Amino acid sequence: MREKLGEINNLNPEQIICGAGSDEILELIAYAYCGEGDEVIYTQHGFLVYPIAAMSAGAKPIAVAEKNLTADVDTILAAVNERTRIVMLANPNNPTGTYISGAELKRLRADLREDILLVIDNAYAECVTADDYDMGYDLADAAPNTIITRTFSKMYGIPALRVGWGYAAPEIIDILNRIRPPFNLTTLGQVGACAALDDVEFMQKSVAHNTKWREWLSAELRGLGCEVPPSQGNFVLAKFADANAVFEKLRANDIIVREMGGYGLPEYLRISIGLEADMKKLVALLGE
Ligand SMILES: Cc1ncc(COP(=O)(O)O)c(C=O)c1O
Repeated sequence: MREKLGEINNLNPEQIICGAGSDEILELIAYAYCGEGDEVIYTQHGFLVYPIAAMSAGAKPIAVAEKNLTADVDTILAAVNERTRIVMLANPNNPTGTYISGAELKRLRADLREDILLVIDNAYAECVTADDYDMGYDLADAAPNTIITRTFSKMYGIPALRVGWGYAAPEIIDILNRIRPPFNLTTLGQVGACAALDDVEFMQKSVAHNTKWREWLSAELRGLGCEVPPSQGNFVLAKFADANAVFEKLRANDIIVREMGGYGLPEYLRISIGLEADMKKLVALLGE
């Protein structure tokens, strides 16, 4: 599987580690690189596994403010102190859908202390259409202090098979492998992921569908008066006057969206991109 990932992504298989979902890679990173007395920086509405992984390793998660629901490099850098060990950033982020450019990512790495591990979580990379996006492989190659994570759970559509992976300098992969459970991936997961990599047509169709309906849904929601941050994911976040009432109304009509209270965004709902009929039904219900 590592060889196949290397071949398709033009990466050295020796610099790849696979996990039971990218969540497992994030946990291994936390266990290996932080502990009691250390701090892990993530952004205010960043993916919630970051603080959970930090706390389970005994470290303190530090949530830093975002600007316009988007990670802000200067704010992240300002939060760094002598206790900082790791910065975890989802690009694009779940649940906001926002991203920072390749240039900003580069600036973050350049201005971050060398001994701080930068985790660039590219779970939604396949959905991104922005021209200035960069996954950051170069940064991972440049020094043993940056790791990229990817997953088969989003646009590849096989979340329940639990396959994710990471790419970093050999020194980091070696450290993570020392604590990786030896049988963390199932054979079925590996076979499924390899088949998914071969199914280029499925990915192209999914990306085209996602892009079309993400833009359509964002425009429709804005037309209905919702604030919608520009999304590069396979979902959109929308602000409602009464998110709870909207959630209940949709659920009564067999559409389940995600409540955002846990992310500190109680006025928002996160809505996944679905099939055309689902999207139209959703917008009709919201119109009511
Ligand atoms: C930003 C982000 N990273 C990582 C993951 C983990 O996904 P998995 O463990 O299925 O690879 C998710 C899933 O929701 C996510 O949203």
